[in-house]
Amino acid sequence: MKPLPIKNSWVLVTGASAGLGRASALRLAEWYQAKPLIVGRRLDNLSELQAEIDERFHIPCEIIVTDQREIEGREKIAAKVAELKVTAALLVADLTSFGPFDASRADAYAEVIETNILSFTDLLTGLIAIFRQQPFESSIIAVSSLAGETSVPFQAVYGASKAYVSNLMRALSVELAGTGVSVGSFAPGGIDTDMAAVSDLKWGRLGLMDVDRCAAYACHALVHRQSFAIPGIGNRLTYLASRTLPRSLTSRLAALPYRRPR
Ligand SMILES: NC(=O)c1ccc[n+]([C@@H]2O[C@H](COP(=O)([O-])OP(=O)(O)OC[C@H]3O[C@@H](n4cnc5c(N)ncnc54)[C@H](OP(=O)(O)O)[C@@H]3O)[C@@H](O)[C@H]2O)c1
Repeated sequence: MKPLPIKNSWVLVTGASAGLGRASALRLAEWYQAKPLIVGRRLDNLSELQAEIDERFHIPCEIIVTDQREIEGREKIAAKVAELKVTAALLVADLTSFGPFDASRADAYAEVIETNILSFTDLLTGLIAIFRQQPFESSIIAVSSLAGETSVPFQAVYGASKAYVSNLMRALSVELAGTGVSVGSFAPGGIDTDMAAVSDLKWGRLGLMDVDRCAAYACHALVHRQSFAIPGIGNRLTYLASRTLPRSLTSRLAALPYRRPR
C-alpha cells in the first residue's frame, strides 16, 4: 500500500507523556513533519514534549490532558480529532500488571482491563467513525505486544489484554478494507521504558529494544498502513518460534525473564 501522506497533517498519539508514545511523537515531527496531537494524564510531561517539538523541529503540537478511562476523556479526544481533521492515530496508552496472578487484587486487574480493553475499544470505535466520514484516507495503529501473541506467565492479565488488541485489529483490518481507513497492530517485545522498568524483569534491561528505535518502527507501520508489524529481527524470530513450538513450551519460555515468587 502507498505510504499515507502525513506531512503537515495532525497525528494523534496517545500515551505520549512517556516511553514509546513520547518517542513516537518526536519521530513523527522530525522525520515526517507531522503535527502531533499528544494525549496523557501528566501535563508536565506533555508540556515538556510540546516545547521540545517546537524548539527542535518548529512543528506545531497540541496537548490533551485527560484520563482515557473516563468517557469525558475519550469524548474530548474525539472532538479534537474531528476539529483538527486528524489523518492518523497511534494508540499507545496502556497499563501493565505483573507478578504472580493471585498476588494482585481484582481491582488492579479491572484497571488494566478498563484501560487496555474497554476504553481502548470505545476510543477506537469513535476514531473509526470520525475517520470514515473524512474525505481523505487515514491510518490507525494500536500498539499491542508480543505478549499478545503468546501467553505470558507473571504478566498474564496484561498479556491477555494485548491478545485482545491484536485479535481485534486483525479482524478490523479485513472489515475496513476498501473504506479508506487502514487499521493494524504493532507488536514489540520488551522496550526500554518505565513500563519495562516496573515489570521486575530478572535480567534488567538486557534484551530490551531502544525506545527510539522501536518508535521508528511504529511510525513506519502507521505511515505504511501495515495490518501487523513486529519491530526488529530478534522479535520477529521470537514470534516465528512462538508460532512453531508447542504452546505449552512457548509459555514456559515466556516465563523465563520474570522473577518467580520465593
Ligand atoms: N515497555 C515494554 O516493554 C513494552 C513491550 C511491548 C509492548 N509495549 C506496549 O507499548 C506501549 C507503550 O508502552 P511504554 O513502555 O511506553 O509504557 P509507559 O512508559 O508506561 O507509558 C504508558 C503511557 O500510557 C499513558 N496512559 C496510561 N493510562 C492512561 C490513561 N488512563 N489515560 C491516558 N493516558 C494513559 C501514560 O500517560 P499518563 O501516565 O501521563 O497518563 C503513558 O504516557 C503500550 O501499549 C505497551 O503495552 C510495551
